[in-house]
Amino acid sequence: MQHNKVLILDFGSQYTQLIARRVRELNIYCEIHPYNKMPQNVSEYQAVVLSGSPFSVRGDDAPHPDLSQIRGKKPMLAVCYGAQYLAHFSGGEVAPSNTREYGRANLSFIKNDEPFFDNIHKGSQVWMSHSDTIKHLPTQGVLIASTHDVENAAYRIEGEETYAIQFHPEVYHSTDGKQLLENFLVHIAGVKQDWTPQSFVEETVEALQDKVGNDKVVLGLSGGVDSTVAAVLLNKAIGKNLYCIFVNNGLLRKNEFENVLNQYKGMGLNVKGVDASKRFLEALAGIEDPEKKRKAIGNAFIEVFDDEAHKLTEVKWLAQGTIYPDVIESVSATGGPSATIKSHHNVGGLPDFMKLKIVEPLRALFKDEVRRVGATLGIDSELLGRHPFPGPGLGIRILGDITAEKVRILQEVDAIFIDGLKAWGLYDKVWQAGAMLLPVNSVGVMGDERTYEKCVALRAVESTDGMTADWVNLPYEFLQKTSNDIINKVKGVNRVVYDISSKPPATIEWE
Ligand code: XMP
Repeated sequence: MQHNKVLILDFGSQYTQLIARRVRELNIYCEIHPYNKMPQNVSEYQAVVLSGSPFSVRGDDAPHPDLSQIRGKKPMLAVCYGAQYLAHFSGGEVAPSNTREYGRANLSFIKNDEPFFDNIHKGSQVWMSHSDTIKHLPTQGVLIASTHDVENAAYRIEGEETYAIQFHPEVYHSTDGKQLLENFLVHIAGVKQDWTPQSFVEETVEALQDKVGNDKVVLGLSGGVDSTVAAVLLNKAIGKNLYCIFVNNGLLRKNEFENVLNQYKGMGLNVKGVDASKRFLEALAGIEDPEKKRKAIGNAFIEVFDDEAHKLTEVKWLAQGTIYPDVIESVSATGGPSATIKSHHNVGGLPDFMKLKIVEPLRALFKDEVRRVGATLGIDSELLGRHPFPGPGLGIRILGDITAEKVRILQEVDAIFIDGLKAWGLYDKVWQAGAMLLPVNSVGVMGDERTYEKCVALRAVESTDGMTADWVNLPYEFLQKTSNDIINKVKGVNRVVYDISSKPPATIEWE
């Protein structure tokens, strides 16, 4: 089945991915392409959205795409830079603005019967973020909305299905932004809302069967959402030809290996659990530098995974849980367009001598879509709602060198913290949480004796993607009880602190 699809031309805005997510929330499939790498088959897209940009249209280095295949031929929505671009190069004028045009503004409509503004409230709040302003509309431009500070806040082009807006409908602070995108895409451009988790599952299963045929596929499970959903999709497509490997690197949470392995088996996955804890600990012995630890863990993973994959005969494919943000080509705001594709950092990579072909069933999905697809596949909501956990696991939460005893201590502490969050109904309010074992001993008293023991830091953050994060204001009573439990139950710890640093400047992990 061929979906309707929307092309998002990226000019490097920090919000471009948000546009795509809002469009997908409308059950419309869309793709982000850099402005200077327009897809060949533009005619296959039902509508086009031009993104914002950190550039000024007046600058020498400003993106200057050839829109001749789109303009007037496809419904087009130009956002922020896009709106200025249309104005500047089509008979209008863009100039630096005199007043501050960041943040909240309220729309007032010029006429009350523009279909573009159907069901949008009068005075609707929109979010502005620009330093240039449109002084004069382009040729055939018709003004349709203003704000207090921005006269030309929205316009359309007479005789075309082209709309341009100075504000950002994709950010949550534009309260009717989603409705506006629906008005343009569904009611004006006539794009069908045919992209659902169910349709994704059906089509992906069919596509995987075509692609892989009767070949065998190997997949590294991590216990996380992406690799699990990828495995369940592949299992649905090719069943027993999928061989999953779940490696215990000895740096997982307490009882995680056994629990997750049982869960996977209960889901009907063909999974082999490999307990390589000793091998990882040996590889890590004496290493204190965080990046060296990451490398040692990554290399050990590749060796273990490779040994296991070699035990399987005639495997032709390696499946990975790569998701859309990992493959979107980004437009750099400083050095011109860049075409770097990030590699998936959880599954360590592919040794050269294993010439496996790669299959990535989640390549088109954002994280929240992976969860929705997972729910459609019947995966347990507890598993889908798990906090992110770093590939090197507790290895980067034990500051300094790693020993079996330190891992044991941190596993106990972490389990008390995480179980407590669940028991207090706080787990789902937190994006990520964990404990860090600090490389300091401090003095304490227990009974009549002085102790000289370890200090642990607890960290709980709210975030949407891990790029920025803020610490969570957990109830004092919870922190009090957790601290008590940790100090009373975990031998070797006499002090607990709570991390109240935001990212930036502090990162989420301590190493
Ligand atoms: P930071 O510490 O950079 O973490 O604020 C942001 C997010 O990335 C995770 N993280 C990692 N994940 N391998 C991973 O797979 C790593 O080496 C790694 N380092 C940090 C971290 O847990 C958080 O979710």
